[in-house]
Amino acid sequence: MSILLSVHNLAIDYYTLNGIIHAVRRAELELCNGETLCIVGESGSGKSTLGAAIALALPLNAIVKSGSIIYNGIDLLKANRNTVERIRGREITMVFQDPLATFSPLHTIGEVLEDIAISKLGVTKREAKKIISEVLKKVRMPDVDRVLKSYPHELSGGMLQRAAIAAAILTKPRVIVADEPTSMLDVTIQAQILSLLEDIVRSDGASLVMITHHLGVAQRICEKTVVMYAGVVVEEGSTVDLVNTPLHPYTKSLLKAIPRESHKKARVVHIPGDPLDPRLEVLGCPFATRCPHTSNRCFNDVEYIEIGNRRVYCNIYAR
Ligand SMILES: Nc1ncnc2c1ncn2[C@@H]1O[C@H](COP(=O)(O)OP(=O)(O)OP(=O)(O)O)[C@@H](O)[C@H]1O
Ligand SMILES: [Mg+2]
Repeated sequence: MSILLSVHNLAIDYYTLNGIIHAVRRAELELCNGETLCIVGESGSGKSTLGAAIALALPLNAIVKSGSIIYNGIDLLKANRNTVERIRGREITMVFQDPLATFSPLHTIGEVLEDIAISKLGVTKREAKKIISEVLKKVRMPDVDRVLKSYPHELSGGMLQRAAIAAAILTKPRVIVADEPTSMLDVTIQAQILSLLEDIVRSDGASLVMITHHLGVAQRICEKTVVMYAGVVVEEGSTVDLVNTPLHPYTKSLLKAIPRESHKKARVVHIPGDPLDPRLEVLGCPFATRCPHTSNRCFNDVEYIEIGNRRVYCNIYAR
């Protein structure tokens, strides 16, 4: 599989009234054509910031300090406005945790979808209607006529998320970034929405970047997984390898913290120590203060180590 998008040495800060937040300290990843990749990590680890950077949707107070995001041979962080406009919301689209982020309370679902089709694809109103009816079929939307005439608050969360997925696939994107798209939905609906996303990326050949707190979601639908801790991608590998033989000490403790199907009563393990303050500058590994294998070097420098087709940010594996 050829590489469609790669993130290298990416660091992103937020400027706030309370100081500078180091949201992404060091991110590396590779996404192949048609691949499904999951970004997992605890709250505040920088998953959404990395996802938004890939989707060219960073908030205004975010500053990219270093790195590159190469998509189809173009560095998105250096691209001119026209190129960004061509790619954002068209070749790379986003599904948000809250579908209300896609829809405006003042417009019907039909109006918003039509607007996306016309502005992003440059089609006529008539063509737009045809495209919309096709994508709504694809997302298995029930009661299409009613949905098109509805305002967001008139739909259930599950239907609205289906409509948001329709909006995200309308332009036939090559990359879809889905940021916790099911976490606000009921458990039964969550499973339906995940299967839907899975079916869509498979049938359209798009690549998917799925952001989640749960390795279970990664195991279910993603070939590859990237683990983040305190703004750093600490490990990348095929989901099966990563779950069966985690390399980074953080990934190991994350896996211990998940009760497995076969050990339903497994205790949720607490990782000793405190999470890292996002305002602190860190030279070495962000997990060093909590890691059972820390050496002096870990506080000063760490590099990515390639092991087969996996990558881990940890000195244990350095020779
Ligand atoms: N717009 C913003 N302005 C300032 N700080 C922000 C902003 N968005 C996120 N942050 C901060 O950046 C850090 C990374 O946040 P981010 O939302 O990327 O993490 P996350 O892994 O997606 O977390 P969650 O699982 O809770 O969604 C956190 O410390 C967060 O408080
Ligand atoms: Mg998030």
